[in-house]
Amino acid sequence: MTGSIIKQLSAETGAVFSELLLPAEYGKVITSTRDGGAPFQCNGCMAAAKQAGQPPRVLAEKIQQKLQNSPLFASVEVAGPGFLNLTPSAELIQSQANRLAEDPRTGAAVTNDPKKIVIDFGGPNVAKPMHVGHLRSSVIGDSLQRLLRFYGHEVISDIHLGDWGLQMGQLITELELEQPDLCYFDPDFTGPWPTEPPVTIHDLARMYPAASAACKADLERMEKARSATAMLQAGHPGYRALLDHFIAVSITALKKDFSALGVHFDLWKGEAAVHPLIGPMVEKFKQDGFAESSDGALIIKVSEETDKKELPPLILVSSAKAALYATTDLATILDRRDNIAPDIILYVVDLGQSSHFEQVFRAAAKTGIFPKERLEHIKFGTVNGTDGKRFRTRSGGTMRLSDLLAQANDAALARMAEAGIAADLCEDERKDIARMVGLAAIKFADLKNVRTTNYVFDLERFTSFEGKTGPYLLYAAVRMKSILRKAKDQGIVSGRIDPKETTETELVLLLDDFDRALESAVSHRAPHILCEHVYDLAQGFSRFYSNCQVLAAKDSQTTASRLRLVETSLQQLETGLELLGIETPDRM
Ligand code: ARG
Repeated sequence: MTGSIIKQLSAETGAVFSELLLPAEYGKVITSTRDGGAPFQCNGCMAAAKQAGQPPRVLAEKIQQKLQNSPLFASVEVAGPGFLNLTPSAELIQSQANRLAEDPRTGAAVTNDPKKIVIDFGGPNVAKPMHVGHLRSSVIGDSLQRLLRFYGHEVISDIHLGDWGLQMGQLITELELEQPDLCYFDPDFTGPWPTEPPVTIHDLARMYPAASAACKADLERMEKARSATAMLQAGHPGYRALLDHFIAVSITALKKDFSALGVHFDLWKGEAAVHPLIGPMVEKFKQDGFAESSDGALIIKVSEETDKKELPPLILVSSAKAALYATTDLATILDRRDNIAPDIILYVVDLGQSSHFEQVFRAAAKTGIFPKERLEHIKFGTVNGTDGKRFRTRSGGTMRLSDLLAQANDAALARMAEAGIAADLCEDERKDIARMVGLAAIKFADLKNVRTTNYVFDLERFTSFEGKTGPYLLYAAVRMKSILRKAKDQGIVSGRIDPKETTETELVLLLDDFDRALESAVSHRAPHILCEHVYDLAQGFSRFYSNCQVLAAKDSQTTASRLRLVETSLQQLETGLELLGIETPDRM
């Protein structure tokens, strides 16, 4: 039997329940919550007592009898009403330590049920500035894509750009006002369309807020933008050529931002890409009787009797004859179903869009496009400023990703200078370290929270080298690397792990817990569970290192064993951080 200690003990205990003709699941072993006692426990006797027709304590004693001779346990004790407190044997801990050390995955299992999973990100909108909500989506979504892949699933990530809404009509009309002579606005021009874009990303960044403000202030202007949007959606060739330019210009800029963030997408598709599917899809919904008219619009009813709050119908086509956000999302499901055939689609989008996704998922199920239980909204909360309100720039605008990264970088440099970190390294290396520290700070501060909660954006706290922060973890990894470098310089090699001290055994048990943390993080789509693990590991390592001499241990065998523990800890810490999208420097 291989697998983590917890899995091995569960199997052994489960087999004893089976022997007593009780379901093996009652044998499930968990990490003990009490400090100082046995590291594991099994609470199954309480649950099984009724079925066994015996008081839980009696059942627990029976199981204890049978387990006592197993080589996996050092001790099995019955406590309280019928808990089993379990301590693994020294042999088991030792052999497991060496198994982890030899495994490049340091014990993390791979799924036996691999799936094809599409991850849809809360795609930034073309021309509109990206805000911290988009940052959360990319940080969480990226960690999920790494976690799911590492666990053995096939993942296709799609940025899912917002490139099809009213903002496009607003931009087109804005450009027409600024440069009416462009060929895109000439009704007699038939192409070919220029390959050079008529605008830069800076033009777009300036034009969109101007257009949006003008439309808000002036109804006539808004009408123009609406009608340009409708013409674009109806296939106006000049407008379509413009849209393609806007998208291309935005993608180039976004690629730069996202690569600075270390986030990569397999697909750079957007809402516009599925436009051709919308007409036939809507027709089919009409024919099949799923779509109905209501006040000039076409809707799909999605409310259910059991709803506590009434869910409004999904609007497929507005009274102004425009396809809306939900329509595109339905067409996108259709596109993915036919071209990718995923088992599951995850949408990493803020929780403010919960009703939208509930409508879309119900409509997808109702119309038979895709089963609802294979569509998941991976919700997350907002990022707030220290004033408790939604995070904004000092002047009240939305913060751009590039500015945010620059700020994190500056904060990291300041913190490093304060703590004397990387002080003796050359300028270039120090800068590169600050980049990694800044990114680690932002990403870890985001990922460590249960994703549905809101958090306060506080660079001062995020960049601290103490506490539960990204920089603390980088520092821990660098410390391990430095021990290994010293060992190499002194010609010391690692050997078989033979844990003797309590802090060594505890470190092995922590390392062994990676498997559980990974499985739990994957099944709950919850990177914070992995954050907990890497943080616990770094702390466990720190306790070990302050208790146990490594390079100057009492004999060479102990040194070799401890060195191997350092190597394994580093391997796992770096793997864990990589799954969070966090890069570690070699030194600081
Ligand atoms: N572009 C949208 C926004 O900025 C997010 C898109 C999320 N993904 C989706 N399939 N609806 O709010």
